[in-house]
Amino acid sequence: MSQHRGSIKIAASILAADFGCLADAVREAEQGGADAIHIDMMDGHYVRNISFGFDLIPALKKRTSLPMVVHLELDNPDDLIDPLARLGSDIIVVQDDTCPDLAETIARIRHHRIGAGVGVNPDRPLEPVLPFIDRLHLLVILAVNPGFGGQAFDLGALLKLEKARRWRDGRNLNLDIGVDGGVNEETIGSVLRAGADHLIMGSAIFQRTGVAASIAGLRGLIDKSLGPISDS
Ligand code: DX5
Ligand code: ZN
Repeated sequence: MSQHRGSIKIAASILAADFGCLADAVREAEQGGADAIHIDMMDGHYVRNISFGFDLIPALKKRTSLPMVVHLELDNPDDLIDPLARLGSDIIVVQDDTCPDLAETIARIRHHRIGAGVGVNPDRPLEPVLPFIDRLHLLVILAVNPGFGGQAFDLGALLKLEKARRWRDGRNLNLDIGVDGGVNEETIGSVLRAGADHLIMGSAIFQRTGVAASIAGLRGLIDKSLGPISDS
């Protein structure tokens, strides 16, 4: 399968950043060459953690021109979509198991002319999402149980990535295939080979020495994994 290095997006997940310096974190990620800022919103119910709220979106929007991908790791996301869109989310990702009517949720996101995404947990099959992929901008395969950064990558995500990639390519869709959780220097080659093109990374960007250096190192691994430029 051929992939173009320029089409591989790095989304910096600020869950792993220093919460006392989030403005610096997004600025450093942008300057270091990240393609998106990934913001996990949690409710303490769907996952056993609480992270960011509404007001963070406009606050960070003032400090970066990168697209904001808002990942809703919470129950009952439907009522949050309109305010989150108005506050400046560029893509909203809901978890498939939180939406009683996924078609309706996706339509609600798209109504705002922003990107719609769906995330699928490690213990969930991909098939229920298949009927909707032609309306999605981003499919996120979770390789950890949501809630916390720094967890180990679940290898089962690789098969799902391959499957998602076949679905996408077979239909010639303009869909990004994302992977979230445990993506780092050790696992990045495998996720790329499996077909991911939107790499969500927290610890590998924000918990190493220097954000820009980390992103540069990860880009180098992407280039290496995709082979010589003339082959891409
Ligand atoms: C997990 C979140 C991830 C998390 C990934 O609930 O969805 O975005 O930040 O963190 P790492 O890259 O550290 O596994
Ligand atoms: Zn996430």
